[in-house]
Amino acid sequence: MSTPHIEARKGDIAETILLPGDPLRAQFIAENFFEKPECFNRVRNMLGYTGEYKGKKVSVMGTGMGIPSHAIYTHELIHNYGVKRLIRVGSCGAYMSDLKLYDIVLVQGACTDSNFAKNFNLPGTFSALASWDLLFKAYSFCQQEGIDVTVGNVLSSDIFYNLDSSDWQRWAAMQVIAVEMEAYALYCNAAFAEAEALAILTVSDNLVTGEKTTAKEREVGFAKMMQIALSLI
Ligand code: HPA
Repeated sequence: MSTPHIEARKGDIAETILLPGDPLRAQFIAENFFEKPECFNRVRNMLGYTGEYKGKKVSVMGTGMGIPSHAIYTHELIHNYGVKRLIRVGSCGAYMSDLKLYDIVLVQGACTDSNFAKNFNLPGTFSALASWDLLFKAYSFCQQEGIDVTVGNVLSSDIFYNLDSSDWQRWAAMQVIAVEMEAYALYCNAAFAEAEALAILTVSDNLVTGEKTTAKEREVGFAKMMQIALSLI
């Protein structure tokens, strides 16, 4: 059995999956954090692996960038492969000056400028929320380990290169703390299928101060984010 975008067989993918945007990051996670990693997908180079972490079966797969790409993969993972727990590990741009580079954001809720939720034909606006259980576990782990985290609302935007350079300030005025491009779709797809989802983000740039990380520097924040994500398996 395969889907248009995933060539795995049923049973090849664990019920818990980590979801970075970058497929090479999925490969890195599998090779550095999992025991016995096996590749289950190479379609479109969107690498996916299943292995074990502390004796538990776990998978990791890239999703690409943006809501359409992310939603294709999470839909197929949930509906065709029975995935029940989806943990996005990504990066975000901070809308608050007190969020420093490499800080960690646990995404409690996501707003969007996308029309994605139209698909669910709701008679109003959907608030996309994290699984309380995963959020509570992640936050408790951070408290226990002394990892500083910020929990809050983010914007999942369809636009990376926004022509209106002050648009983001109106989201910030509503206490939206950061921008990324996928969490809203993840939370919608999970809610619709009664699956659990959480997005964990590392701050890679700050729109208030203009600070940016380099690709190399991002590995620092990535280690902390992985520690949190792995604690949920
Ligand atoms: N915009 C959208 N997505 C992002 C950003 C950003 O500034 N930084 C990291 N992911």
